[in-house]
Amino acid sequence: MKKIIIAIDGFSSCGKSTMAKDLAKEIGYIYIDSGAMYRAVTLYCLEHHLFRTDGSIREEELQRQMKEIHISFRLNPDTQRPMTFLNGNNVEEQIRTLEVSSHVSPVAALGFVRRAMVEQQQAMGKEKGIVMDGRDIGTAVFPKAELKIFVTASAEIRAQRRYDELKAKGQEVSFDEILRNVKERDHIDQTREISPLRRADDAILLDNSHLTIAEQKEWLKEQFNKAVHES
Ligand code: DC
Repeated sequence: MKKIIIAIDGFSSCGKSTMAKDLAKEIGYIYIDSGAMYRAVTLYCLEHHLFRTDGSIREEELQRQMKEIHISFRLNPDTQRPMTFLNGNNVEEQIRTLEVSSHVSPVAALGFVRRAMVEQQQAMGKEKGIVMDGRDIGTAVFPKAELKIFVTASAEIRAQRRYDELKAKGQEVSFDEILRNVKERDHIDQTREISPLRRADDAILLDNSHLTIAEQKEWLKEQFNKAVHES
């Protein structure tokens, strides 16, 4: 069967990764979480003291160090889920903390960071047969993707999902803080100068505020079958 590229974009914490991962597993495609790459760069910045105390980034220093930042993905043999590696270390857990979440947007807004990530993402999609989720996959990374989905859900529902996720991992978090972080990231993601979050003209809109994971899964599979058929 012909392989296609599937681009899944949307707001933070709206379940993009879950749906993209599940679909990729079911259809035997590679799954790439592009947000994990921006998170890994952010973790690198935190570990290398590239944030000033006022939260701004030492841009020139980061730009100089970009070539020393190597991000890769490997499948966890037990769960078959991809794990993110930063310079050879498994950072899958560390990149999901609230600390990384609250520092990632300004890092993802830097042109030289985006160019480096987009280049790597395009290389990963060369052979097609890939599901990638993020903010600019259908607009900047793969503007010719055969299937583009734009996912959204209300900020409150998204904050609740992230809250439940972090709680389940045993992290001490406040719902209000998470909601503030979700709204702030929405704002930064939509208003940044380079590749702001927006729906590509040919992306199919999915509001999953009131959909179960099973319903969403079925809907997505249908869109996939249609797209493969039409391509
Ligand atoms: O999807 P996520 O929450 O893990 O993404 C982390 C951050 O990275 C988010 O604030 C926006 C940014 N991002 C981006 O700018 N472009 C992408 N393709 C993916 C994520």
